[in-house]
Amino acid sequence: HFPAPSSAAGAGDFLRCLSASVPSQLVLTPGSPSFTPVLASSIRNPRFFTPATPRPLCIVAAANASHVQAAVVCGRRHGVRLRVRSGGHDYEGLSYRSVRAEEFAVVDLAGLRGVRVDRRGATAWVDSGATVGELYYAVAKADPQLAFPAGVCPTIGVGGHFSGGGIGMMMRKHGLAADNVLDATLVDAAGRLLNKNTMGSDVFWAIRGGGGESFGVVLSWEVRLVRVPPRVTAFTVQRTIAQGAIDAVTKWQTLAPALPDELAIRVVIQNQQARFQSLFLGTCDQLLPVMSSRFPELGVTRADCREMTWLQSTLYINSDTANQPLETLLNRTTSLSTFTKNKSDYVKQAITRESWQKIFAWFNGPNAGLMILEPHGGQVSRIADGDTPYPYRSGVMYNIQHIAFWSGGDGAAATNWINSFYSFMGQFVTKNPRAAYVNYRDLDIGQNAVVNGVSTFDSGKVWGEKYFGAANFKRLAITKGKADPSDYFRNEQSVPPLLPRN
Ligand code: FDA
Repeated sequence: HFPAPSSAAGAGDFLRCLSASVPSQLVLTPGSPSFTPVLASSIRNPRFFTPATPRPLCIVAAANASHVQAAVVCGRRHGVRLRVRSGGHDYEGLSYRSVRAEEFAVVDLAGLRGVRVDRRGATAWVDSGATVGELYYAVAKADPQLAFPAGVCPTIGVGGHFSGGGIGMMMRKHGLAADNVLDATLVDAAGRLLNKNTMGSDVFWAIRGGGGESFGVVLSWEVRLVRVPPRVTAFTVQRTIAQGAIDAVTKWQTLAPALPDELAIRVVIQNQQARFQSLFLGTCDQLLPVMSSRFPELGVTRADCREMTWLQSTLYINSDTANQPLETLLNRTTSLSTFTKNKSDYVKQAITRESWQKIFAWFNGPNAGLMILEPHGGQVSRIADGDTPYPYRSGVMYNIQHIAFWSGGDGAAATNWINSFYSFMGQFVTKNPRAAYVNYRDLDIGQNAVVNGVSTFDSGKVWGEKYFGAANFKRLAITKGKADPSDYFRNEQSVPPLLPRN
């Protein structure tokens, strides 16, 4: 049984406790010259890096498991909560800021980023602080025909990304990142270092898609690597409305989830245009007959095909530019120039052509953002809804990410745009509840209320059923009730504990 943290400001005691186990140069307090650079180092959304954003009491730049264990034990003892940060890409900044006024420290895992590939077994252990770009690079350097199915942006952190599922260009063939996790090491709320066997099957289920922070600190993940051909084919085809973008998107909806698993075509809608970005796990010769028989409207020709290695394709699809050095995947620098607000939806019934005409009209003004449509179907849809916390499987056609962005000021015009657009889109997407993807974190869909020091199940249900569905959310909450009943690991959208008396 875990004592609840004392509520008093135990900051000094916490730091003294840490100093017994963590070298002083790894505990950065606001007075330290490296505090601000380290805090900023992986922040992706500058909305949460303003002078008004509350700063952590300290950053624990963990270099091994014992540092994380000490942070948990000292935090529990002295009433300081932890925000765990791997890649810092959380859309709401929850890995390094607290919306509520409460004392917290950041456990930064950026220093724990090894990738150990077992080529013969086609598995790897990857530490949470690695980026997916570092993972892709290490895997393909060990064997160019091995790969891993995860997200598109190379700087996203493995820790948060795997915790929330991880959708990407190979999910139709190989499932989510979390679907390919074989084992993990976790520091739990008692400060114990556990693995798949010792954490128990419910916790191991929960950490593969149930969202970060709630169940402890995942230090490393063992993953199943997948085989890819020596050459893959990527293409990007852009269509304006005059060139038939609306018809093409209308058709894409039913087509893309039913294509061969080897072919993923996602769509980016922006500025009255649709950009079809594709990865095919095969050659151009194999791709062209599929495109001409299934999607002739797109008019893909040999000139559109770009054959390359899978590793090159990860860079190409993220940036739409060829011939970048592969080492770009190792660059962890994030820019603080673009502010964003993101929301998400899932679609199970095709949207009509007339409705797409109305949707495209939203992308006409100066404050309009963009939307990204990610096709499901294939392997991601063959897994049962309850096999992992990610419930958007059979019957889901595609995910939508709505993005508003701006480069300075308060962003009011862009956020007004996304809020109105999201409300307009409600008629076309899943309802009761309106589904959302936990890795596209959106605090507008609900936040926990804390009563007597514990997040309440009822407040969590509001956002939790949108991310996980009712059955998975309940199982997550029961698991949390067993693993962390006093709710030590928490944030504004962490899974609340459901205790037997509830
Ligand atoms: P970060 O460190 O901010 O953590 C996110 C959450 O997980 C926080 O609550 C944090 O406390 C918790 N957490 C982090 N590490 C943990 C650990 N080791 N143990 C326990 N909890 C931990 N998604 C996707 O599926 N496909 C995609 O293609 C993309 N593309 C994309 C592009 C860009 C530019 C951004 C900013 C984001 C995406 N995403 C995405 C979303 C991404 O998957 C999501 O933001 C991840 O949570 C990011 O993981 P990080 O480790 O970077 O985040």
